[in-house]
Amino acid sequence: MKLLEGKVALITGASRGIGKAIAIRYAQEGCNIAFSDVRRDENMELCEKELLALGVKAKGYASNAASFEDSEKLVETVANDFGGIDILVNNAGITRDNLLMRMQEKDWDLIMDVNLKSVFNLTHACQKIMLKQRSGSIINMSSVVGVSGNAGQSNYSASKAGIIGFTKSIAQELGSRNIRCNAVAPGFIITDMTAQLPEDVRKDWEKKIPLRRGGTPEEVAKVCVFLGSDLSSYVSGQVINVCGAMNC
Ligand code: NAI
Repeated sequence: MKLLEGKVALITGASRGIGKAIAIRYAQEGCNIAFSDVRRDENMELCEKELLALGVKAKGYASNAASFEDSEKLVETVANDFGGIDILVNNAGITRDNLLMRMQEKDWDLIMDVNLKSVFNLTHACQKIMLKQRSGSIINMSSVVGVSGNAGQSNYSASKAGIIGFTKSIAQELGSRNIRCNAVAPGFIITDMTAQLPEDVRKDWEKKIPLRRGGTPEEVAKVCVFLGSDLSSYVSGQVINVCGAMNC
């Protein structure tokens, strides 16, 4: 029996990167996948194709996770199309790094909307379905810098720390209805997001990691399989670092 056989997962920002790796790994475990991204483009179509080839039901939706209205509509549509939502992975996230001195108000607001408000939007919309089902697993993508902070990323770190507070609160609020909520805090993972960094900054990060390398999206996805499945049936309100001991 596969670990997520017959379940339905909704994963935000999953046309590429960590979100896509979670979608693929979940599908390999028999999970039907609804995923969103800002637009329907070639990445979304490719991801949809790769998921369907794994023999599960899969569909990509263009939806802005930062929009409350979009998120409500998305959850309603997915619930109709798939007949429920067992696992919500709030993965969508972006960076607008700068020193505080140079940070503009719009960069603060954008990061809060895309990284933090999105988690509220989707969880708020999904709770009705999960409450009715009396089960659910919510996984929120935080970051090690949400735990430790990082110079030049005050907006991003604050949004990721906010996710941790939200996660622990929801775990307490919805636990009695058999709904679990956990956060994953990846360290330095090799995706398009980290590819934006200059070569010397990337090398510097890698030197500081005890495992001496960046992680792969698949390594984050494996932890999300654990949190989405019954393997973690008594795990809720936790933050699991996936960082090669960078943050310990
Ligand atoms: P990525 O940039 O490769 O992929 C992010 C995806 O989210 C993209 O497909 C993008 O279009 C989508 N997205 C952006 N804004 C969106 C919105 N408003 N609505 C819907 N989708 C949206 O990034 P990556 O590296 O895969 O990151 C995924 C998550 O993991 C993010 O939350 C990020 O903050 C977090 N993370 C990543 C780390 C890394 O080292 N790559 C480390 C720690 C956390």
